[in-house]
Amino acid sequence: MKVGVLGGGQLGRMLALAGYPLGMNFRFLDSSPEAPAEPLAEFIDGSFHDDEVLARFAGDLDVVTYEFENVPVTAARQLAQRAPVYPPPEALDVAQDRLSEKTLFRRLEIPTPRFAAIDSKEDLHAAVNDIGLPAVLKTRRLGYDGKGQRVLRSPADVDAAWTALSGAPLILEQFIAFDRELSVLAVRGRDGDVRFYPLSQNSHAGGILRVTLAPAPNVESALEQQADRHARAVLETLGYVGVLAIEFFEKDGVLLANEMAPRVHNSGHWTIEGAQTSQFENHLRAVCSLPLGDATALGRFAMFNIIGETPPIPAILKIRGVHLHLYGKQARAGRKLGHVNVRLEEGAASQEQLDAVGRLTGVMTTLA
Ligand SMILES: Nc1ncnc2c1ncn2[C@@H]1O[C@H](COP(=O)(O)OP(=O)(O)O)[C@@H](O)[C@H]1O
Ligand SMILES: [Mg+2]
Repeated sequence: MKVGVLGGGQLGRMLALAGYPLGMNFRFLDSSPEAPAEPLAEFIDGSFHDDEVLARFAGDLDVVTYEFENVPVTAARQLAQRAPVYPPPEALDVAQDRLSEKTLFRRLEIPTPRFAAIDSKEDLHAAVNDIGLPAVLKTRRLGYDGKGQRVLRSPADVDAAWTALSGAPLILEQFIAFDRELSVLAVRGRDGDVRFYPLSQNSHAGGILRVTLAPAPNVESALEQQADRHARAVLETLGYVGVLAIEFFEKDGVLLANEMAPRVHNSGHWTIEGAQTSQFENHLRAVCSLPLGDATALGRFAMFNIIGETPPIPAILKIRGVHLHLYGKQARAGRKLGHVNVRLEEGAASQEQLDAVGRLTGVMTTLA
């Protein structure tokens, strides 16, 4: 099997690392020659907008997938004429626009924060009246790691947020004072088989994911069922193939969908050592028409992102139960450089592990 991957970031690198043991080969396309997947596989340094590049990329591929959400839908559709493209370009289309994403959730009766499309300052004032404050103004497209967002807390913030973000299509969302953030990862095969990973509990700071605990502590089966029902609805409606992530806010026992990602997801990195089959392997199994693997957890895990600078490697490796994953990227403020998965021990020992990794990665966390 030769798998073509659009995007050569860390998600692509981890896909390749999961696929080689299954005898797969990879070709990546990315416009950055320093992409993390470059040292691992055949690599084309070129533009998603260049027809000649796309033709060269498609060559002898058995299947095309993507690890980058902002691949132009036109490129995915063009490639679909040469090889199967999974997840379907339709999923990419929906997930690239926060408005179409939330509109899909609403159509599928998946609860979301209240929202309104914003195309003018008048729209914004009207939506603020309707939705109330606090609220979050976001660009509909191209936002990630909290970029392209402003929280509006008082009426005085409204015009400043408009000035900061106008020029691109926007969405205003009700601000949810959530109890916590959870995400579900689900995978659907080409034969329609579906598997769900247990919910992950995610902590963000400055819009960037810092820590995931999985399986999320204190989850009743009713909550897990909401997540699985919502994920299944999206998978089936889109005829989806591959791994899908949906991020939720939990508020008073209800899951409100925040956004979805049509790809493997940072909140699923714990599955590399923490699940019977990792999200990366299951994504590849799905897109390559192979049987899906068991998605159950092998214990309690925590995943810490390494952001901005890498702590001393020996100090990390000294901690019991850790697995280090570095992406081979140049250090830069706010950049995801790697992550640490920790298999948590029983009782008080688990808090010592969390504290030890937390001190090195700069994020303290508790299991409460
Ligand atoms: N409507 C909201 N209410 C409360 N917090 C929010 C809301 N929207 C976003 N956030 C916070 O900002 C983080 C990043 O926003 P998100 O919409 O997921 O964008 P990104 O594409 O950058 O991940 C969320 O994980 C959450 O912590
Ligand atoms: Mg998000």
